Amino acid sequence: MVAIMKSPLSIALSVASILSPVWSAGTFTPEAMLSIDRRGSALPNDAGTLAFSAGNQYNFTTHKRKYYLNVLDLATGSKTLISNSSADSNPVWLPGSETKFVWFHSEDDGSTTVNVGDASTPDAEPFTAGSIPGAVDGLKVVSIGNGTYAVAFFGTAAPNGTLYNSELAETPYTTGRMYTQIFVRHWDTYVTPQKNSIWYSTLSVGTSNSTSGYTLSEPINALNGTGLESPVPPFGSTDNYDLSSSGIVFVAKDPKLNQATTTKSDLYYLPLKTFKEAAPSPQAIFTPGLEGASVAPAFAPNGHSLAFVRMKGINYESDKNRLLLVSDITKGLEASEFYADAAGVGAWDRSPSAIYWSPDSATLYLAVEDRARVRMFSVAADPATTSFPCLIYADSATEGHVVSSGKILVTGSSFLDNSIYSWVDPVAAAASNATSGVSLISANLGYGAKWGLSKSQISEVYYEGDGGHMVQAWVIKPSFFKENETYPLAFYVHGGPQGSTADTWSNRWNMMVFAEQGYVVVAFNPTGSTGFGQALTDRIQNNWGGSPYIDLVKGYEFIEANLPYVDTNRSVELGASYGGYMGFWIAGHDLGKKFKAQFVHDGSFNTLSQYASEELWFMQHDFNGTLWDDYDNYARWNPAAHTKNWTTPMLIVHNDLDYRLPIAEGLAAFNVLQAKGVPSKFLNFPDENHWVLKPENSLIWHKTVLDWLNGNDNPAVIHEDAERVERSRARGFGDGCHGVRTPRVRIGAVGEEPAEDGRVAEDLTMLAESSASGSRRGNPRAESWVRRYLWPFLIAAAMAPQP
Ligand SMILES: *[C@@H]1O[C@H](CO)[C@@H](O)[C@H](O)[C@H]1NC(C)=O
Ligand SMILES: *[C@@H]1O[C@H](CO)[C@@H](O)[C@H](O)[C@H]1NC(C)=O
Ligand SMILES: *[C@@H]1O[C@H](CO)[C@@H](O)[C@H](O)[C@H]1NC(C)=O
Ligand SMILES: *[C@@H]1O[C@H](CO)[C@@H](O)[C@H](O)[C@H]1NC(C)=O
Ligand SMILES: *[C@@H]1O[C@H](CO)[C@@H](O)[C@H](O)[C@H]1NC(C)=O
Ligand SMILES: *[C@@H]1O[C@H](CO)[C@@H](O)[C@H](O)[C@H]1NC(C)=O
Ligand SMILES: *[C@@H]1O[C@H](CO)[C@@H](O)[C@H](O)[C@H]1NC(C)=O
Ligand SMILES: *[C@@H]1O[C@H](CO)[C@@H](O)[C@H](O)[C@H]1NC(C)=O
Ligand SMILES: *[C@@H]1O[C@H](CO)[C@@H](O)[C@H](O)[C@H]1NC(C)=O
Ligand SMILES: *[C@@H]1O[C@H](CO)[C@@H](O)[C@H](O)[C@H]1NC(C)=O
Ligand SMILES: *[C@@H]1O[C@H](CO)[C@@H](O)[C@H](O)[C@H]1NC(C)=O
Repeated sequence: MVAIMKSPLSIALSVASILSPVWSAGTFTPEAMLSIDRRGSALPNDAGTLAFSAGNQYNFTTHKRKYYLNVLDLATGSKTLISNSSADSNPVWLPGSETKFVWFHSEDDGSTTVNVGDASTPDAEPFTAGSIPGAVDGLKVVSIGNGTYAVAFFGTAAPNGTLYNSELAETPYTTGRMYTQIFVRHWDTYVTPQKNSIWYSTLSVGTSNSTSGYTLSEPINALNGTGLESPVPPFGSTDNYDLSSSGIVFVAKDPKLNQATTTKSDLYYLPLKTFKEAAPSPQAIFTPGLEGASVAPAFAPNGHSLAFVRMKGINYESDKNRLLLVSDITKGLEASEFYADAAGVGAWDRSPSAIYWSPDSATLYLAVEDRARVRMFSVAADPATTSFPCLIYADSATEGHVVSSGKILVTGSSFLDNSIYSWVDPVAAAASNATSGVSLISANLGYGAKWGLSKSQISEVYYEGDGGHMVQAWVIKPSFFKENETYPLAFYVHGGPQGSTADTWSNRWNMMVFAEQGYVVVAFNPTGSTGFGQALTDRIQNNWGGSPYIDLVKGYEFIEANLPYVDTNRSVELGASYGGYMGFWIAGHDLGKKFKAQFVHDGSFNTLSQYASEELWFMQHDFNGTLWDDYDNYARWNPAAHTKNWTTPMLIVHNDLDYRLPIAEGLAAFNVLQAKGVPSKFLNFPDENHWVLKPENSLIWHKTVLDWLNGNDNPAVIHEDAERVERSRARGFGDGCHGVRTPRVRIGAVGEEPAEDGRVAEDLTMLAESSASGSRRGNPRAESWVRRYLWPFLIAAAMAPQP
């Protein structure tokens, strides 16, 4: 018999091609998600009557992004378009005025025009107050009396102290670049002689020949000649400086230390009165017992009190932020620590990341990662307080603005909505553990109702992990979930590792997109995660493949024992960065045999290559030593040592501009899979960094990932998943005819907040997405910072790309 036997593989492939595409199961497809209106934060005027609300939206038909800067009437909800140009950015209300505002307009020659307009006459020609000879960002404005405002912003300075304008820079004849100190490159950029700096000037009413209009004085480089750089690259932004009538404070790394092996950054004070005087010498603020990274300086409305946060040690980026206060910066530069204790640990086991003041300068509002949300808390602005902060916003808050009545306009997000505006009455909220005093203004996506998404899909579990500590995990079901059916498992591990999967929006790792493919997504916050107390975060040191792996093995067992609607015969595993490290580690260990397919995005394959990365403080902390003195610590948890057991089909995505985890990591892993004959696929973006930000690239990323996990091009999965595909078609999902569901909008309370991979953030713009020190390895804290600080400002050119 000479029959032509079709291999099982080719049969499987033909089944797949008939049944595809499976990935458009719900209506909340990747394309739908990437096409949504990316509305940013609400920025209210002092009176709380109007707010700026800016955003953008990508269209896959026109392949273009549309921009808008609206003024929202907070009483009626009506919107007025102020600009539809990506060249307009940084709108800031003029203090004391209900309708006048100042903003930046980018010119084609790289310069920036400073305009003043009036929201009550949006069609009138704005006043041009002045021109700045380069690209700038992060505008802050305070009143210093006599119709004069002090202004601060940041930009890039050439070595001679002038604002650098890349549009006018000459192209050198050679491309060589030479370094005698690190960093050579950072995040997605080779280091150049240009450095970030802060400029100040004044904006006054009247011009030289008229009493109307506005004039901007010549901006002065606040840091020229100091050797200091602020904001701190790559993610420092408006969270690195603040402005009051007493002057400017800013964060800069200690220039005497190795920039790549230490995190120490100090807060400096520049006393200024007229904001036309030459820059004085910066004065360091003194924080007894604390010498780590400083961030989030916030001047009180009284102009002289200052709050900020700082970590303790000089080489641990995920240490706890301690809350600090300088009561009058014009009288003394020593800061007092809240909750200081004899052990030097700090009695409050939470890490605030942003600070806002009440109008009477008596209360602080803090953004704090807490149990997989970024919540808001209030506390008396008194370091002697013995009461812990009170919860005032229980979901995730991206940004807050306090208006003159004392209410806070909070912008939040959640798994279901990218931009939720709410009023928070901090007194009522604090008295009720945030069960009252919170009222919704608007949820940009109606909590996903348009796509049939609802809160009922989302739940969380706690189970016992390694050593008996409790591990939190999100369980997210498809909108078309039925109790009596089973769904394949998507097993997700976040990056960082010091970060979390929080109830916040993400354009890059959107849990709802995966759930709507028909998966039950279980997203773990294992050992190393932030927001559950510093001990859980710290426990991952020298333990990368240890406790977190055991937590995940126990998590898998928990699912098998407790979630009957999960079909663990059809499990897939996925993660990025440290989550990708864990994918590689899992592949070489027993848990790897549980999965039909794995997906690793920009993961760490060979821990012995960690020194090819850039922020050396990170691995020197996490591996508890150096490669030369503590080699065994690097070798102990190395996925590259366990490839003999790799059999699970794997998709790898790795990008050329990822200098955090260089391309060799992904290539080496793919080469192993190919050489061993394990089904595998490699996707690369030459123009993306650790993240995929451009919408068209992100769409391909999503399609490739979902096709792989769904089995459409992964023979190993297809073979066993043909039955699932049939069932899914029988339900109608495979045909994409799943109808829009009845909206179930939560009214009343709300929200979500920020923080990620070291800091938080999500998307807004390429710039936004490429932010933060925390955003480091995908950590929610990092992501939130970006969202919080960049969203409101970057309506501009930077907004081009995506999540
Ligand atoms: C995208 O652009 C096309 C063509 O102009 C238009 O028909 C469609 O409505 C747009 N989509 C969205 C979501 O605005
Ligand atoms: C912006 O608005 C102007 C009119 O105000 C209109 O002519 C122009 O087409 C709009 N541009 C975009 C990109 O929508
Ligand atoms: C405001 O004007 C008064 C009177 O001219 C002057 O004494 C004061 O110094 C001015 N204040 C500032 C901040 O320029
Ligand atoms: C400062 O340096 C920039 C860039 O190197 C150069 O274009 C500019 O002419 C210099 N300005 C002065 C005043 O030297
Ligand atoms: C910066 O400082 C140097 C002296 O340290 C001075 O020569 C230069 O003019 C300053 N540049 C600016 C833009 O202030
Ligand atoms: C007033 O100054 C502006 C520029 O500041 C100039 O454009 C205008 O021509 C001047 N008007 C008179 C009457 O001099
Ligand atoms: C306060 O609310 C949070 C979030 O809803 C909850 O986790 C916590 O248990 C509540 N605390 C009290 C004392 O009710
Ligand atoms: C689940 O229950 C629904 C009715 O609620 C029924 O239509 C469906 O066939 C059931 N599915 C299974 C797998 O039993
Ligand atoms: C998983 O596979 C095993 C062995 O084939 C089978 O006994 C079991 O019923 C399957 N479980 C589910 C939930 O389909
Ligand atoms: C880190 O190294 C120090 C010094 O060798 C040691 O005392 C400490 O126990 C180590 N910590 C961990 C978590 O391995
Ligand atoms: C490979 O798998 C076998 C069988 O499960 C196991 O005994 C062995 O420890 C694994 N090897 C590695 C390097 O993990």
